[in-house]
Amino acid sequence: MEEIKVELGERSYAICVGSDILGEVGERLQAFRFSRVSVISNPTVVRLWGDQLLGSLQKAYPDVAIVIVPDGEEYKELLWAYYVYGELLRHKLDRASAVIALGGGVIGDLTGFVASTYMRGISFIQVPTTLLAQVDSSVGGKTGVNHALAKNVIGTFYQPRLVWGDVSTLMTLPKRELLTGIAEVIKYGVIWDKELFQFLAENREKILNREIDVLRYIIKRSCEIKAEVVSKDEREGGLRAILNYGHTFGHAIETATGYRTYLHGEAVAVGMCLEARLSLSLGIMGEEEVERIHSLINAYGLPTKIPSDIDRDQVLSAMQLDKKTIAGELKFVLPEKIGSVEIVGVSDTTEIAVLLRSD
Ligand code: NAD
Ligand code: GLY
Repeated sequence: MEEIKVELGERSYAICVGSDILGEVGERLQAFRFSRVSVISNPTVVRLWGDQLLGSLQKAYPDVAIVIVPDGEEYKELLWAYYVYGELLRHKLDRASAVIALGGGVIGDLTGFVASTYMRGISFIQVPTTLLAQVDSSVGGKTGVNHALAKNVIGTFYQPRLVWGDVSTLMTLPKRELLTGIAEVIKYGVIWDKELFQFLAENREKILNREIDVLRYIIKRSCEIKAEVVSKDEREGGLRAILNYGHTFGHAIETATGYRTYLHGEAVAVGMCLEARLSLSLGIMGEEEVERIHSLINAYGLPTKIPSDIDRDQVLSAMQLDKKTIAGELKFVLPEKIGSVEIVGVSDTTEIAVLLRSD
């Protein structure tokens, strides 16, 4: 098992990455001496991985309770957070208790949000079971829920006490979900690490065949990058915004389609292509590099264009409500070359509208 540290002073924590480690998490959590723990998950993940996790926890925490929310991005919302608060009260979780998120980014974001607000904040542990959650959402402490008008606009910065990423859980992941995780790994390649980008290009078959060693490598490398960025800029005063490459368009596409049509990573894949093209049209990146990004996304079978039936005006309106938009100025993370990006403010949306209409 490998451990990567997120350095945040007294709130520092470990990200553990390994295979077949789900059964060991109870032992690791014993040292925290929580008064009680509750697992928050959804029916799909509980059916696949619930017994293993509960079996491991029961030794240290015999009263462990499980709270189940329905499976889907549309349930990452305040009403379901309210439901979870009620369940935690029923199970008598107190300020010395902890909640454990078992699942993908939806469960992780919702659990983190509940943990940060329940009794003014209790401990939480991330046990991510999707590739996307293992490489991105379980690390860094962004928690939150969606609003019908904009994605992730209700939330907190609140770090977990531990991230426990078991690569073996990815063996049951549907292929479409594996690919959405790859989109976020491609993101790290473009914003930070050209070797990782190249690794993804050269190891496509092995990754798609879920060879444990290659999956472990891309998860570890992604977590190292995210840990470094978050340690330097936890609350997105500057640097951390680079993690949003592809997300200005991506989040707007998700909102405009009611969080149902596109998976998060698919919307980000389209967003990365659009933002690479925006970079080209603003003279920041050359055509050859834009083509390399487009080709890699395409090689993994991820979408590169917005379908014609999506209302472009709705996408533009959703972008105006993006968390990064300040005084009407949209913010984009634009690649200048593979491995390096810059953050660009755009006030006049004419160029964006043209780009969306020509896609
Ligand atoms: P998800 O949580 O909806 O999980 C995808 C699907 O896979 C679900 O149906 C889930 O039940 C299923 N699943 C989970 N683990 C499984 C397993 N091991 N085997 C079989 N099926 C499994 O989606 P996601 O892609 O993990 O996360 C997307 C969410 O993450 C979005 O809401 C996005 O906004 C958020 N996100 C947050 C951050 C952050 O920094 N907090 C970063 C990136 C994305
Ligand atoms: N996924 C963006 C961030 O964590 O900052």
